[in-house]
Amino acid sequence: MAVFSALLSWASQAFLFLLVLLFIALLGYCAYIKYIHLKYDHIPGPPRDSFFLGHTATLLRVMKDEKVVNDKFLEWAETYGTVYRINFLHSIIVFTTCPDTTKEVLMSPKYSKDKFLHDRLFNLFGQRFLGDGLVTARDHGQWYKQRRIMDPAFSSLYLRGLMGTFNERAEKLMEKLSEVADSKTEANMLQLVNCVTLDVIAKVAFGVDLNLLQQSSPFPKAIETCLKGMMYNIRDAMFQYKPKNWTFINEVREACRLLRKTGALWIHERKTAMHNGDEVPKDILTQIIKTAGKEESMTKEDEEFMLDNFVTFFIAGQETTANQLAFCIQELARHPDILEKVRKEVDDVVGMKQDISYDDLGKLGYLNQVLKETLRVYPTAPGTSREIVEDMIIDGIYIPGGFICIFSTYVSSRMEKFFKDPLTFDPDRFHPDAPKPYYCYYPFALGPRSCLGQNFAQMEAKVVMAKLLQRYDFTLVPGQSFDILDTGTLRPKSGVVCTISHRKYKN
Ligand code: HEM
Repeated sequence: MAVFSALLSWASQAFLFLLVLLFIALLGYCAYIKYIHLKYDHIPGPPRDSFFLGHTATLLRVMKDEKVVNDKFLEWAETYGTVYRINFLHSIIVFTTCPDTTKEVLMSPKYSKDKFLHDRLFNLFGQRFLGDGLVTARDHGQWYKQRRIMDPAFSSLYLRGLMGTFNERAEKLMEKLSEVADSKTEANMLQLVNCVTLDVIAKVAFGVDLNLLQQSSPFPKAIETCLKGMMYNIRDAMFQYKPKNWTFINEVREACRLLRKTGALWIHERKTAMHNGDEVPKDILTQIIKTAGKEESMTKEDEEFMLDNFVTFFIAGQETTANQLAFCIQELARHPDILEKVRKEVDDVVGMKQDISYDDLGKLGYLNQVLKETLRVYPTAPGTSREIVEDMIIDGIYIPGGFICIFSTYVSSRMEKFFKDPLTFDPDRFHPDAPKPYYCYYPFALGPRSCLGQNFAQMEAKVVMAKLLQRYDFTLVPGQSFDILDTGTLRPKSGVVCTISHRKYKN
């Protein structure tokens, strides 16, 4: 009995000691947060919702109302100026629309992607997701090695060779639209172009035929689930601790696992083909296998690393282009004058030809402007961020080092000071004779970490749009909203539902 009560007294003392320790740690952390506030509060910014979580509550409210988080960033940029600050725990996030700082930071290799974002994309709720693939890699050496290996799969010579696949897959969409037109039904254009871009990336990058316009597949849903999970994982630190979210979190983990398992299978099949001496394409999959090093010394981490890049290309190489296409169709349907002009260009350059050539693409200058303007108003990947270790002066405001800096092309592209009547869709802003936007328009980011697939994406988009314009009339089904759905990337909320008819050619 005496032993028991001695033990009890020891345990309660230990518990008390632990509580005191925890209390001191909490006090210390509070003091640290206060110190950070004092250090950065001279930078203008909206009032904090709470001492601990900073501005999180406002952002969560925006998400709950299904609004666009970047619209809140735009509102703050209009209110607080070129540079403003928000807080989250002890982290400081600085937003800037200052073109010179955008240039200085994004064009330089010395500012790495930020750790906060990296960690939230590396794993999704404990399941490895993008890991240290090309989009997320922070270490310059590790990133540079991957990028050099990947570059040949995006050279203009290699891309020229992809015109056949772009044409062939876009042709499948045209067949589908012909069925829609004949049956006088409605087409959800976002869903359809999503199938095309996924078909293209699967074929071009991994040598696999998915034929999504004919066959159903779990991939579109898995990608959507991962992106949604990614958004919550980044924007809501408490998301995974709330039991009501656990079913969804399991779906996200399952979706990540599906993509990675698919990657493992396709990589295995490709390696087997290589071992057997079969001729394999020099595509993205071959390059991914090269990034992992020699077969004899392949470690588990090397295998995971290949899957990181598999998932990276599967996701980065598809969704943003599909969303751009859907927004573009939406805007053309809303602007008959622009539609007529771009259609005339397609008729002049492509005429009745079925296959669009690489040279044709170069002549579709106005279509190029339309696609650029689409990404100005609707940048499907709205921004990027960097970690700034050293002190910096932005627009006359001193900012001590140790902060995350966010650059949003969505915000600057929608500011009157950079683009007159920013919400007016006007492709002539990108006329070759118009002044070039100065570091306030960067839908593919800028500098060394800019989009590797930019040319790929715009070639693909042009082929799809040119064929669509060549063959069909499309009208938006009335009653749709023109709202944007923010899932980290941006997409049209309505899905751009259209009625389609075969084009009547004028003599
Ligand atoms: C309209 C379509 C696209 C848009 C708007 C877009 C936009 C972007 C943006 C903004 C970034 C920088 C991301 C960041 O800093 O966090 C990026 C990076 C990247 N994108 Fe794209 N992208 C598109 C299509 C593609 C396609 C089709 C591919 C591949 C086939 C691709 C592959 C990549 C890769 C690999 C990176 C990482 C580059 C690096 O850090 O070295 N993207 N993209």
